[in-house]
Amino acid sequence: MAELIDGRAVAEKVYAELRQEIADLKGRGVTPGLAVVLVGDDPASRAYVRSKDKMCRDLGLHSVKLELPATTTQEDLLAHVAELNRDAAVHGILVQSPPPKQIDEGAIVRALDPAKDVDGFHPGNVAKLAFGDVSGFVPCTPLGCQRLLIECGVEIAGSHVVVLGRSMIVGKPLAMLLMQKANGANATVTVVHSRSRHLPEITRSADIIVAAIGQAHFVQAEHVRSGAIVIDVGINRVDDPTAARGYRLVGDVAFDKVARKAAAITPVPGGVGPMTIAMLMANTIKACRQLSLSL
Ligand code: GUN
Repeated sequence: MAELIDGRAVAEKVYAELRQEIADLKGRGVTPGLAVVLVGDDPASRAYVRSKDKMCRDLGLHSVKLELPATTTQEDLLAHVAELNRDAAVHGILVQSPPPKQIDEGAIVRALDPAKDVDGFHPGNVAKLAFGDVSGFVPCTPLGCQRLLIECGVEIAGSHVVVLGRSMIVGKPLAMLLMQKANGANATVTVVHSRSRHLPEITRSADIIVAAIGQAHFVQAEHVRSGAIVIDVGINRVDDPTAARGYRLVGDVAFDKVARKAAAITPVPGGVGPMTIAMLMANTIKACRQLSLSL
């Protein structure tokens, strides 16, 4: 059986480090601040926003939670973003994705001050990642995956990493991050997606598989070679009449079957999820440091 990669435990280690940095910043008279903007009332988005706000408070950060109605116009949202860009107490801004249909998400992301774009979605930050400029912001989920691998002692350099999924939030930035010429990277990266041919053959050649394809139980035992490391980014709701809420959360990996073959695997929940929030907090503190102290 595979070793379980405990995302909650690694996230706690990250928080212990961040608490020291926050104390240092507060000692210099600066409190890091994060604004999280939610448009509409999607239940999953609402839950994410609540947990981000709670984590800010636990760490003693300044937290602004902006909950806007589903009918919010593009113009209104741009005005809120402009105000947060100007607010000196706010160092990080996150607009929860996906927004309602009337919102042009790309235009909202481009309106963010890139220095406060702790999601790493602004084209300026995407370019910095491609160039290997460490002053930029890398999206939180890819950063969390990389940190999990590093903390588990997985050798990334020279390894073949197969990323399933090509989203701007996970697949593409993760591929760029792990192929960088840098510590915790130097991987050989292959990106596969819904249109890839010979997908099981490709994933079977992976030392490390990262599943971010958004389909419950997509990765089966036939996709995984014995001894591979499996990181499951998926968060999918599946109906479960025996669960109190009528559903349960499962990943993109058929956990029970794959765990019999893999050397190590992340659970869902309790794997990548806690790391994403931890990396959001880390990016907020980095933004605060860069904006306030020119460090
Ligand atoms: N929705 C799902 N994941 C994310 C994320 O990392 N950032 C934002 N802003 N929205 C999301």
